[in-house]
Amino acid sequence: MLTAIRTRDDEKNYDFGPYPTSWIQIAWSHDVGRGDVKAIRALGRELVLFRGEDGRAAVLDAYCPHLGAHLGVGGRVAGNCVRCPFHGWEFDRSGACTAIPHAKRIPSRAQVGAWTVREVNGQVFVWHDADGRAPWFEIPEVPEFGSSAWTRPRYYETTIRTRWRELVENGVDRAHFFALHGFPEPPELDFRTDGPRFTMQSRVPWRRFGIERTVTLDIEAHGAGFAVTRGAGEAPFIVLGCPMPIDAHTIIHRQAVIVSKTLPPLVRAAVARFVGWTAMREFRRDVPIWQNKVVVPRPVLCDVDGPIVRFRTWARQFEPSAAPAAHEPAPTAEPA
Ligand code: FES
Ligand SMILES: [Fe+2]
Repeated sequence: MLTAIRTRDDEKNYDFGPYPTSWIQIAWSHDVGRGDVKAIRALGRELVLFRGEDGRAAVLDAYCPHLGAHLGVGGRVAGNCVRCPFHGWEFDRSGACTAIPHAKRIPSRAQVGAWTVREVNGQVFVWHDADGRAPWFEIPEVPEFGSSAWTRPRYYETTIRTRWRELVENGVDRAHFFALHGFPEPPELDFRTDGPRFTMQSRVPWRRFGIERTVTLDIEAHGAGFAVTRGAGEAPFIVLGCPMPIDAHTIIHRQAVIVSKTLPPLVRAAVARFVGWTAMREFRRDVPIWQNKVVVPRPVLCDVDGPIVRFRTWARQFEPSAAPAAHEPAPTAEPA
């Protein structure tokens, strides 16, 4: 159960927009099989996701230009097109109308908006840019996903009343790991940015059941909508994490966990469950904070805080109309 919201959305003082310029995961690949049609609410829009007979996923604006039916509610796949449930108009993945039952000609304005789609790591992404620019980076393949040397993914999903930057900033918020998540001391973070990408190596002191150890996590983010966390050691695991804005105030955060099969089968099943359970337990500790906090654009920081200013500088490039950051920007000094 998520904690009740006490802070009104207009009090949250967001100094950044709800919809970043980025690749945004809108579904898992297994959510949409060949010939399937799915209604998606994302980025403040209604969309239709479908997979044609050629196996390729496509995403269009949902409302039919004829008389406004939702293509994702009752629509069907016809070849590599989606057919409107109301009067049977068909649209291909470029959004062009390709067939109208019994009509002698297709009106030139019979067109719906089409989204640029990438399918990688068992995830379906759309490219979002309020200014309509073409993608300027790509989501990397994580070869372990789909490899027979790793377990099949366990999936998790959480709906949260917040915006994307709050979630991602959490990873660099060094001091909260001690106070909120109960780590024995704040982790050591090595945060580096490179254009639309950041990497962060995190050495996390861990104490559970009387056992003390240091867990090394390698986190890599590409844009505002994709992060991969790799856990090293004798139980290697990988977590994908992808926030999807539904509207200006709500995101769905999707996670997938896989574990190396170098472990014996019983141990790897236990580790997969433990990693997923631990990730979600810690995530749920953040949720009431996110849902009830405000944004402090000029925070009062101290020496125990992580690279919050450098993170926000990096995140600014995903705001509407912002120019993409140059690769390897000079780090901004953190306030002492
Ligand atoms: S509303 Fe879609 S075909 Fe008429
Ligand atoms: Fe957290």
